[in-house]
Amino acid sequence: MTDLPHSKVAGKNGETGFELAAEALNDTQDVLAFLRTRRSVVAADIIAPGPDERQLSHIMEAAVRVPDHGKLTPWRFIILQDDAKAAYAALLRRLWLADNPSAAQDAPVPEADFAVRAPLVITVVSSPREHPKIPVQEQLLSAGAVCMALVNAALACGFAAQWRTGWPATDERVLHKLGLAAHESIAGFVFIGSRRPDAPPLTDRRRPFWQHLTSRLDATAFHEDE
Ligand SMILES: Cc1cc2nc3c(=O)[nH]c(=O)nc-3n(C[C@H](O)[C@H](O)[C@H](O)COP(=O)(O)O)c2cc1C
Repeated sequence: MTDLPHSKVAGKNGETGFELAAEALNDTQDVLAFLRTRRSVVAADIIAPGPDERQLSHIMEAAVRVPDHGKLTPWRFIILQDDAKAAYAALLRRLWLADNPSAAQDAPVPEADFAVRAPLVITVVSSPREHPKIPVQEQLLSAGAVCMALVNAALACGFAAQWRTGWPATDERVLHKLGLAAHESIAGFVFIGSRRPDAPPLTDRRRPFWQHLTSRLDATAFHEDE
């Protein structure tokens, strides 16, 4: 946050951190400026329009450009748009209402309503491969990197985006409909679109001071024990 406008804020338990000034967020002037100021937009504030096919292709090209030990590509995507996305949102609504019988039929349904409004939902599926040397954990980390790259590429294109999981990510009925195999799991649902014009101004959330999380070792740490 060096040189960026910010204020110091304390967390509930007194932990210190900082928030960037609203006008500093998602600065796309250059790559490092963007990485230092990137900020998701909550799915509740994401509506149409989303990227066109060319923009989507650029975003996807960025999403697959991630570290991947052994070039296993242990992830894949399911793009939900238009009718398919509407049907997916309707499925979530049906399932949730069936599980919550006391809720009114027109009750807001978590995750379903976001899928109704956002024009594009990209499911990142973690699809680990059997490998003698590369553990599943590393492959999951690569799937996480894909989600991050996807969100960042969408934000860098000027869209609103958020990486979510929520109840659908572990609901067996949803996983079945999405066509996941037994060894696969959801790394994230990435919602992409535009920020609702009537949304509250985009503000930062508290970020930790990296210095508080970081130690520097000196060489003696690695000397042979006496
Ligand atoms: C694996 C994973 C799952 C997440 N799931 C949710 C979720 O279900 N709901 C939610 O509000 N935020 C969820 N988040 C948090 C948001 O993606 C994100 O942290 C928040 O919107 C702020 O992001 P920012 O640092 O880009 O501003 C999840 C984050 C990760 C890494």
